[in-house]
Amino acid sequence: MGHDSSTQAEGRERPQRDDTARDAGRGDLVIDRCVCFDLRFSDLKKKLDERPATMDQIARRYGCGSCCGICRPYIERMLETGETVFTEVLHAESDKPSERR
Ligand code: FES
Repeated sequence: MGHDSSTQAEGRERPQRDDTARDAGRGDLVIDRCVCFDLRFSDLKKKLDERPATMDQIARRYGCGSCCGICRPYIERMLETGETVFTEVLHAESDKPSERR
């Protein structure tokens, strides 16, 4: 008796993204962390709940926003709204076309 490849595939554990990405479940684009410093926005928010900080202080304290800077608009949004998982691309204010000269 041969192996049924579909049964084997079903029995194999599929690689999963972490819980945050899976829980968002609204599409493939999930932005939930500063990738340069591998710090989830939810973990950063917990730190900031205990010890509030501005964006510049966050960059100095945790590094987030001080390397590539791509996470800065997400952190700024998190500071404004409390969101920690994003499913849309956000741009820094200085990256918006109307503000480029
Ligand atoms: S993603 Fe946060 S500094 Fe690069």
